[in-house]
Amino acid sequence: MNIMLPNLLCRDSWETLNASQTYTWGVRLGMFLHPGDLLCLYGDLGAGKTLVAQGIGHALGVKEPITSPTFTMIQLYEGSQIPLAHLIHMDLYRLRDPAEADIIGIWEFIRDDTIVLIEWPQIITDQLPPDRYELHMAGSGEAPREMSLSFLGNRAVRWDQWKNIKGTMIKDKETALEVPDN
Ligand SMILES: Nc1ncnc2c1ncn2[C@@H]1O[C@H](COP(=O)(O)OP(=O)(O)OP(=O)(O)O)[C@@H](O)[C@H]1O
Ligand SMILES: [Mg+2]
Repeated sequence: MNIMLPNLLCRDSWETLNASQTYTWGVRLGMFLHPGDLLCLYGDLGAGKTLVAQGIGHALGVKEPITSPTFTMIQLYEGSQIPLAHLIHMDLYRLRDPAEADIIGIWEFIRDDTIVLIEWPQIITDQLPPDRYELHMAGSGEAPREMSLSFLGNRAVRWDQWKNIKGTMIKDKETALEVPDN
């Protein structure tokens, strides 16, 4: 009998001991993501969500500094690597009502040619596309971070690929990358 496993089982966890390791995981994720992907970033204030976004931007060849879009809520960056991707970085911390997501036009940014990162997506969880990645980060201050990546909906088809290339990525870049000054 062919039993479908719940997607939540497609979840990988690891620990980072400092900011440069977290940033480096962002770079690795950026190398893995494709245009059309949505990655939701969960974690308390200061967990390192924006740091991961900066690493992803680095992997995509974004030249501008990636800063926290807490006030603008939505920030667009242009990648310069192939495959060429636009990068949208959202921070919904200040969203108070899910209906505001429609007003600021969040859904128009989730497109096939764009990688979308959303910090603080909790308020729109029910409205999010089912096919997405979720990165949960626990820890703050100088403490290590527990990071956990889930493959939801049809993104589960890339689970094996992630497991295969994760080991290679770590071997290729044993030293953590330096976090750039923004
Ligand atoms: N192991 C670690 N991983 C991630 N960040 C770390 C770590 N150790 C220390 N830090 C520091 O924690 C801070 C994380 O800040 P960042 O802006 O990325 O958090 P955030 O999750 O985006 O917060 P917010 O919810 O306010 O947007 C950085 O100053 C970083 O240097
Ligand atoms: Mg942030």
